[in-house]
Amino acid sequence: MSLPDMPLGSSTILMRPLGVGTNTWKEEVSRNSDSTNPEAAVQGSLAVGVHFFDTAEIYNSGASESALGRALRGSDLDAFIATKFAPLPWRLTSRSLHGALAASLSRLQLDSVDLYQIHFPITLLSIHSLMDRLAEAVEQGRIKHAGVSNYNAGQMRAAHSALARRGIPLVSNQVNYSLLHRQPERNGLLAACRELDVTLIAYFPLASGMLTGKYRFGGQQARGFRRFGQNFRQPERVEPLLRALDQIGQTHGRTSGQVAINWLARQDNVLPIPGARNARQARENAGAIDFVISDVEAARLDDLSNSLS
Ligand SMILES: NC(=O)c1ccc[n+]([C@@H]2O[C@H](COP(=O)([O-])OP(=O)(O)OC[C@H]3O[C@@H](n4cnc5c(N)ncnc54)[C@H](OP(=O)(O)O)[C@@H]3O)[C@@H](O)[C@H]2O)c1
Repeated sequence: MSLPDMPLGSSTILMRPLGVGTNTWKEEVSRNSDSTNPEAAVQGSLAVGVHFFDTAEIYNSGASESALGRALRGSDLDAFIATKFAPLPWRLTSRSLHGALAASLSRLQLDSVDLYQIHFPITLLSIHSLMDRLAEAVEQGRIKHAGVSNYNAGQMRAAHSALARRGIPLVSNQVNYSLLHRQPERNGLLAACRELDVTLIAYFPLASGMLTGKYRFGGQQARGFRRFGQNFRQPERVEPLLRALDQIGQTHGRTSGQVAINWLARQDNVLPIPGARNARQARENAGAIDFVISDVEAARLDDLSNSLS
């Protein structure tokens, strides 16, 4: 049994309940089969029906958008492209959104983007003025849908009503949500998303790879900034959860990471976007939505993860 398609917010778009995160992508490609290869990740995802790709102007200083644009040029299959505007401190007026959007469209080699999101709420620019600029971009046909990211419930409600005054729905809010970060359930954000019909796009659904089980106690060490995170410094804390993911995975013939993504994607109104560096990861992650864990299995994961996040 496969998870059903889901609508994007209150829009008419129906999509598989999974996207692909691209924040590690750059233009160069190495020939090693496990290295980062955006083109292979795009082809591998599209081939199995996953069409949603999420990028941002600030990922690798635009290189993620360029890599995605180049990878899509080689494909005749339709993709749904989401990118983000960063309201950085030196952007002194919300009008800078229009120039940033033009630069993103150029890197993506597109005339319009399917979803344009305000990357974060920490800015001197008001939510109201940013929503006005998003509304203008929708009216100009340069973006098809408007979204936000890292907004709390109050900020999201303000964005939702500012757009509603222009007759435009807020379709999504992209936030950190996984078995190791369950704050959206506790701080009212998930409930507010459901009430307003805003899709919660879950980033870090694999907790930066930790939930795949490959960085477990006594095993492979994470590299870069990740290794400073609490779960990477103390992998023994996560061990009982990882063992349960393994066991549930074995019951379904799936990997731990697939079970962790399924736990998110089976929930109403939640769309996880695991980062995939290459075709192998993209195909494996796509396999996370063509089965369903049981309520009993989900409750076991709920219990084990409650004390960890
Ligand atoms: N809006 C925001 O503020 C925000 C912030 C962060 C991220 N995001 C978005 O969310 C996306 C996902 O976040 P993320 O990629 O950082 O975290 P993630 O999805 O939790 O973890 C992805 C990492 O896990 C590993 N992985 C993925 N699939 C795997 C597989 N099948 N088998 C083994 N390892 C696998 C890969 O790293 P290794 O192979 O190197 O272990 C990959 O880079 C980003 O790409 C980005 O689009 C948004």
